[in-house]
Amino acid sequence: MLLPLFWNLWQVHDLVTEALKQQHRSTCEFMGPWFTNMNYLVTSDPMNVHHMMSKCFDNYVKGQEFHEIFEAFGDGIFNADSEKWKYNRSLFHSIFKQRDFELFQKKIIQNKLERSLIPLFDHVQQQGSVVDLQDVFNRFTFNNICSVVLGCDPNCLSIDFPDVACEKAFNQIEECIFYRHIVPKSVWKLQKWLQIGEEKKMTKACKVFDQFVYANIESRRKDIRKCSKNMEMVDLLTTLMKEEKGSQVVVHDDKFLRDVAFNLFVAGRDTITSALTWLLYLIATHPLVEAKILEQIKENFGTINIEKKLGIYELKKLVYLHGAICEALRLFPPIPFERKQAIKGDILPSGHIVNPNTIILFFLYSMGRFEEIWGKDCLEFKPERWISERGGIVHTPSYKFISYNAGPRTCLGKDLSFIQIKMTTIAILSKYCVQVVDGHVPILSHSIVIVMKNGLKVKITKMIFFLKEDKLAYLN
Ligand code: HEM
Repeated sequence: MLLPLFWNLWQVHDLVTEALKQQHRSTCEFMGPWFTNMNYLVTSDPMNVHHMMSKCFDNYVKGQEFHEIFEAFGDGIFNADSEKWKYNRSLFHSIFKQRDFELFQKKIIQNKLERSLIPLFDHVQQQGSVVDLQDVFNRFTFNNICSVVLGCDPNCLSIDFPDVACEKAFNQIEECIFYRHIVPKSVWKLQKWLQIGEEKKMTKACKVFDQFVYANIESRRKDIRKCSKNMEMVDLLTTLMKEEKGSQVVVHDDKFLRDVAFNLFVAGRDTITSALTWLLYLIATHPLVEAKILEQIKENFGTINIEKKLGIYELKKLVYLHGAICEALRLFPPIPFERKQAIKGDILPSGHIVNPNTIILFFLYSMGRFEEIWGKDCLEFKPERWISERGGIVHTPSYKFISYNAGPRTCLGKDLSFIQIKMTTIAILSKYCVQVVDGHVPILSHSIVIVMKNGLKVKITKMIFFLKEDKLAYLN
């Protein structure tokens, strides 16, 4: 099975989806050659996923092998099990659920939209040039996450598209982690030991990224020593450095803070880049959907050209845009697959036997494209499927709409991500028309986060008021 997979690596996600459709309950065993030790149970059955992620959560862990493949994540939340995971989870939960944190994040995004993204769009539109929208979002979200987590802005997003070493290093690390998934462990371990190929790139990239983060940690510690009484919501690093629990002050060392930073960079940067890129691509290629989004903005706020800043409550009113985002995340879940390891033997709801230590891969990408879950039109981009008769959002259980994970390890940044994606999309759609360059067909990347291998090449034109009215008229 490994050979055809390698041969068709460029379309691996669709290949797996097609293969799973033909299996009983979308579940089968994947067997690599004997010397590779690449034997997995592969599934996309919602009941199996529900069983592993919720019902028997304690029996399905990330495990030691996951920890080795994802070693760049250190002991951070994505890589941790049991007590370490519980500690990280409750720490992030307490911060993310604070209203102040939500507002702090919103303020940063608003600032970056006004000072870097919109000026860049103006420039590209005036020049009439082609731009890679995915690259723009990558830089935009990197600036955002650096500001939220580290309290610094590396200024990646400007008209000269500067090369920023830490941003490049971060991208490189993710590519190398994907590579570790598709070659036998013995091969990448040998490469690591000899420091050749992808593993050499990985070591170099980790060094660059760590230097950047540790320098920021040092500088934040100095800031804290200088002014200890700042009560305002500040970046996460500073918050964690002086975290208090009751009367006790919890001290987190530099390694802990580095791991937090790395994990949040993956959580809060790549996922948003991916979601924004696919969403804007789908909107640009579905003009009716765009018109409906604009119409709802007009209905709620009286004008399409909203210069005023929308509050979190106002953003919630944009149900159609919410549906469009869910649809983009269903068809292109930023994290396309996950892996779990069984501690004890078990039987899955599909009847498949799980032996102790079995590794189970489940494909979020495939689950978004099954007729049994989404109906015959499952491959269509239809925000309407998320809207109830009464105009609210249809609730779909998380083990079916799996893009944010399910069970106790459900994504902690779901609400924050909707705020960010909505703000950015509104800022763009209310001022510009995004046109995908003729003949540009996106190719899925080989990475742990699903992006476009060839970027998203677009032209930007100014949205003229009558043009928008035209679109609405077309609708009626
Ligand atoms: C479209 C945006 C997002 C999507 C689709 C998404 C999806 C996911 C998924 C699938 C997981 C499970 C990963 C795994 O266990 O291997 C996860 C976990 C997590 N996400 Fe998100 N995420 C998004 C945005 C964010 C943002 C903006 C943040 C915060 C800044 C965030 C924070 C987290 C954290 C902390 C976890 C770990 C939860 C745990 O293991 O207990 N996510 N996310």
